Amino acid sequence: MIRLSVNINKIATIRNARGGNMPNLVQAAKDLESYGAQGITVHPRPDERHIRYKDVEELKPIISTEFNIEGNPADAFMDLVLKTKPHQVTLVPDDPDQLTSDHGWDTIKHKDFLKRIIKEFQDAGIRTSIFVDPVIEMIEGAKETGTNRIELYTESYAANYHENRDKAIYPFVITANRAKELGLEINAGHDLNLDNLKFFAQSIPFLSEVSIGHALIADALYYGFDNTVNMYLRELK
Ligand code: PXP
Repeated sequence: MIRLSVNINKIATIRNARGGNMPNLVQAAKDLESYGAQGITVHPRPDERHIRYKDVEELKPIISTEFNIEGNPADAFMDLVLKTKPHQVTLVPDDPDQLTSDHGWDTIKHKDFLKRIIKEFQDAGIRTSIFVDPVIEMIEGAKETGTNRIELYTESYAANYHENRDKAIYPFVITANRAKELGLEINAGHDLNLDNLKFFAQSIPFLSEVSIGHALIADALYYGFDNTVNMYLRELK
């Protein structure tokens, strides 16, 4: 079974637009779970432009599925994650003012750094995943860091899907197979949507989890959360 983790950053973005508490992020997370989401993902950034550090503390006790916190492991992020103890932390090499994640780790260049950080999280009982491009050397480098999982950065798949989906999926199939061979579990995310998700899931059926935010929240404006979550779950079956 491929689990659906819903990234709720965009809900926080809407809330922050008016300074109050509408929509209520904690209630939205509970509702998403009740509609079938198998995990909740947040990506707190240093400027707290969507998810605030306080949100993470409030979400932890109410999440009954899997809580995944993603971000760049700077000191404040490390402290937050170690204090919160989510089920999973996903390490992403994004700059503080980056619009969204746009590349994976260079797991060879940053091997020692990643190894140290990953051990710290694992010693605290938190599963680790690291965001990587679909490049064999980066997968093999990820194995060396001791991480439990990788998250394949799927932007290039999504961007090229309509032009030639077989070509778009190819590097992901190759690298996912190599990761599996090395004993790594595999997540995937970025720009996955109702058009491209099914083919991705069918091509790599041994995925553990997909993390989806932007498109799912946008679809929910039309279909509502309950319908939308179930439409995404259907694509993963
Ligand atoms: N995975 C990572 C590491 C991300 O940074 C994001 C975006 O915050 C996602 C997955 C989800 O991407 P999208 O919002 O395009 O579904």
